[in-house]
Amino acid sequence: MDHGGHRSPSGAIAEIVRNIRSMAATGASSPRAKVTVPSLLQAKHDKRRIAMITAYDATFASIADEAGVDVLLVGDSVATVMQGERTTLPVSMDEMAYHTRIVAAARPKALIVGDLPFGSYQQGAVLGIENSVRLIKAGAECVKLEGGVSVAHVIAAITTTDIPVMGHIGLTPQSYHRMGGNKIQGRQHGDQAGQRDRLLQDAHAVEDAGACAVVIEGVPADLAAEITEKLTIPTIGIGAGSSCDGQVLVLHDVLGLSRRKLSFAKPYADLLTASTKAISEYVEEVRNGSWPDARHSFS
Ligand code: KIV
Repeated sequence: MDHGGHRSPSGAIAEIVRNIRSMAATGASSPRAKVTVPSLLQAKHDKRRIAMITAYDATFASIADEAGVDVLLVGDSVATVMQGERTTLPVSMDEMAYHTRIVAAARPKALIVGDLPFGSYQQGAVLGIENSVRLIKAGAECVKLEGGVSVAHVIAAITTTDIPVMGHIGLTPQSYHRMGGNKIQGRQHGDQAGQRDRLLQDAHAVEDAGACAVVIEGVPADLAAEITEKLTIPTIGIGAGSSCDGQVLVLHDVLGLSRRKLSFAKPYADLLTASTKAISEYVEEVRNGSWPDARHSFS
């Protein structure tokens, strides 16, 4: 230590090493390991549940990461949650690449999954690969796309380029017009798109094509449980009951920041009320002249 009370660089390093050793000895909060695609598969094997949440920017990505989520999904729900659209259909590839880049800027320990938007892979494998490469270059570590049997060839093509793919079956919001709205799927038996037997085929097709995990959205809990039991890759549910290997929710629904009330989502806070209150206090203080006060002014 020098006389000013500051440590020399070597002293500081020695102290860091001592701290790391004592943390290791006591098992105290060791730094979190980076979540990777292999660690997701390991989680299913170890029966550790996977917590996934959407993120659309660096600020909230780092908050969610600090809270310990395993996976950050840069979802195309950005269209409805952030852009004010009615469906996820309008969001563009450029916009998804931008949001992926600003989530990746937070350098999270959580795995970053980038969503391929509507129209970025449905036309075929070549386009799917091109757009997956764009998301990876923007900072995604895995891409997600919607559909089962009908897009299995696209999933297979993308995975042969060593880009991990997460599938998404059941209520697939990009199929809004086919479904006649965001409707629960898999309630009827049959082989038609959205019917129970077809969803089982979709799940197997996604796994056989090489996907590393699959989101199951908006299906009866017993169907999600059956799929989870049959697949070797992790299933991540949303509105699909409690038997999946993990769960995903939209960030704004978790924080109570959205006005929509969804029966399958739970607000863990009421940031809508807190935000409105904070901003209205600011407006009031501007109007009555009490802001800025002397403490926040320069002399
Ligand atoms: O875009 C999204 O937020 C999603 C989740 C709902 C799974 O796809």
